[in-house]
Amino acid sequence: MKPAIFVTRKLPPAAMALLEENFEMECNPHNRVLSREELLSAVAGKEGILSLLTDTMDGEVMESAGKSLKMIANYAVGFNNIDVSAATKRKIAVSNTPGVLTDTTADLAMALILAVARRIVESDIYARAEKYMGWDPLLFMGSDVHHKTLGILGFGRVGQALAKRAAGFDMNILYHNRNRVDPEIEEEIGATYVDQEMLLKTSDYVSIHVPLTPETTGLIDSKALTLMKPSAFVINTARGEIIREAELVKALAEKKIAGAGLDVFEHEPKIHPGLLKMDNVVILPHIGSASMETRTKMGLMAAENLIARFKDEVPPNCLNPEIFKG
Ligand code: DGY
Repeated sequence: MKPAIFVTRKLPPAAMALLEENFEMECNPHNRVLSREELLSAVAGKEGILSLLTDTMDGEVMESAGKSLKMIANYAVGFNNIDVSAATKRKIAVSNTPGVLTDTTADLAMALILAVARRIVESDIYARAEKYMGWDPLLFMGSDVHHKTLGILGFGRVGQALAKRAAGFDMNILYHNRNRVDPEIEEEIGATYVDQEMLLKTSDYVSIHVPLTPETTGLIDSKALTLMKPSAFVINTARGEIIREAELVKALAEKKIAGAGLDVFEHEPKIHPGLLKMDNVVILPHIGSASMETRTKMGLMAAENLIARFKDEVPPNCLNPEIFKG
């Protein structure tokens, strides 16, 4: 008898096929996030759950699944949607999908830097509207990216991968991280460690790559935005709650900073109406990891974590391996 699992949203075909082969699988039939009530009832009696960053996996969900629940595999590297300590208390394994989305997300952060600096979206909208009347020396003048200073907040996998891309643009790379990285890595990448205040004051582009935790919630608030140069841009491909969105709108309206490139939002999927009106803001619907190749790898990784758990192995990307001790 195959273990019974619930998948909270349809994933790319290769991942669905692997899950189908190994589990008695039920999947959210809708093309939308399940309501809380739907989620609580769908997980009842399941042994595994494959969840998304849009599903709050707290003690109540775990209780609703009942004693049969052995594993929650998150289809994301970020796992702020899961109460890991509530899972650990119940000896439920939790996993995420690190590594496979690093380059794809860093590509998108670089794309946002280029898009805001060179006004790519605005220019595209203008050209499609057939407003282009011929080469114009003053048309859509933006800011250079090459030889400018990039400040990376959070120097983990994605932050470092972005730094490697930025080096190809001859950017001056600063970073700030809770722990300074190995000097050999700094040298190899060509990145300089600075404190957060210095990074905010001197960067032309500030890109956010910290995980969402109580300490990083609201990290970019009006105080942080006031430190930035009026010519600087903020880029966020991490989690929306790291920026106080209303304070960002105010800083943009008051021209305290030059623009923003955002893939994530404080009250996702809602986007602050102020941002929607601003030409100097590029807005994406949380597509950092959205390439077919990467989303497939994430799905296979989440499935393989579940498979390992039901072979009584420690899942390769387990976030609470201590539950297997003793
Ligand atoms: C993650 O994995 O945390 C991203 O936000 C979605 O890929």
